[in-house]
Amino acid sequence: MSDTAKLIVNGETHELPLVVGTENEIAVDISKLRSSSGLITLDPGFKNTGSTKSAVTFLNGEKGILRYRGYPIEQLAEKSDFLEVAYLLVHGELPNEKQMDFFTSNITNHTLIHEDMKRFYEAFPSNAHPMGILSSMISSLSTFYPESQNPNRSVEDIELTIHRLIAKITTLAALSYKSSKGHPYIYPDNSLSYVENFLYMMFAVPSEDYELDPIVVDALNKLLILHADHEQNCSASTVRIVGSSQANLYSSISAGVSALWGPLHGGANQAVIEMLEMIMKDGGDLQKWIDKAKDKNDSFRLMGFGHRVYKNFDPRATIIKKSCDEILEKMGVNDKALEIAKKLEEVALKDEYFVSRGLYPNVDFYSGIIYRAIGIPTEMFTVLFAIGRLPGWIAQWKEMLENGEPIGRPRQVYVGATKRDYVSMDKRS
Ligand code: CMC
Repeated sequence: MSDTAKLIVNGETHELPLVVGTENEIAVDISKLRSSSGLITLDPGFKNTGSTKSAVTFLNGEKGILRYRGYPIEQLAEKSDFLEVAYLLVHGELPNEKQMDFFTSNITNHTLIHEDMKRFYEAFPSNAHPMGILSSMISSLSTFYPESQNPNRSVEDIELTIHRLIAKITTLAALSYKSSKGHPYIYPDNSLSYVENFLYMMFAVPSEDYELDPIVVDALNKLLILHADHEQNCSASTVRIVGSSQANLYSSISAGVSALWGPLHGGANQAVIEMLEMIMKDGGDLQKWIDKAKDKNDSFRLMGFGHRVYKNFDPRATIIKKSCDEILEKMGVNDKALEIAKKLEEVALKDEYFVSRGLYPNVDFYSGIIYRAIGIPTEMFTVLFAIGRLPGWIAQWKEMLENGEPIGRPRQVYVGATKRDYVSMDKRS
């Protein structure tokens, strides 16, 4: 195979090196194209642009493959634990027992947040969306740990920041829920596992016993694993690009949380449930909503359908769909929304519009139904996604740093007015 590609522009040939990944994916390296020819490439939404060489996650959208550090998502979801997956993503290898103990105990010991942070919670409006709170609180951690702002910090300092982030995100998230309800805060109980502790802080009530349901703990553990990384998506790219300016890790992650919030990305899980509720309220006429989604003059889209990279099936959705049925059966939940979801899926999967565009249910189509079944309030769905995605964001940020990647700064094709002279106001039309 040739190791270069040829680009011919106005009769002039430019040779461009090819880069081949470990899964034999081929990329044309255009990084020197501008300096050698003055040309740039144009790719709105970076649909076909590789922004980095990454060893974190392999994804093949056509074949529905997703692997973290080489390990298939199906195996990790079935056999692993969220903190173990977090270690794998951040450090590149599965931990041995000693490494896992060290990682777990560090994270367990950093779950408390500074008492002064509670005042921030009091200042948010009572109906503030927990994603807005979470993003602000994560950014504010950089002010409580100012040493994190030093771009030349040691490897040990970075590791401490990583442990603090993974430890505190569940406390911050649970507090944002308690605060939105106006309920008293529950402090972490460090005798519990990561997932158990989060559920405890979310749902326990002072002076009442809180019993953890193993089905719920298992379901949440699996969901967090499925969300843990997804290579160069909108929020991971945001984290990398913010971090590339040497902004501190807390601020970079806070930016990732904001990017995730949008309904086209992580916010879709909340949007799916809201859509199903809207369809039910409207009488359940599925064809009407499918027609609306297909109508180019209507902004309505079927939430939870379609994906930038999966045009065949989303492997996470396959795993989650199975879990969803199991969990609902075990918990004896009879959810009307699930019935509508299943019917919607059936109708859409037969419809030429969806089939021809490769629009299949994605991970968010089912995750919302599971969250609902295990009692997570709708506004917290995307927060759960953020907790799951945190190790992936950290791994992406750390890789960017270790690769010594330059500051992210795309180019553009300017299409505005050409040079013109200033006109005083009295002469303007
Ligand atoms: N409903 C109706 N039409 C759709 C949908 C949808 N959900 N998604 C895409 N299309 C159409 C779109 O109108 C376009 O049609 P045409 O070729 O006639 O112009 C075609 O399919 C391709 O869509 P696109 O917008 O160019 O594709 P994209 O890769 O830019 O967008 C997406 C991907 C996920 C933003 C989009 O499919 C979408 O908006 N889905 C609904 C939101 C959603 O569920 N997001 C969660 C993604 S999974 C969680 C995550 O990892 O973030």
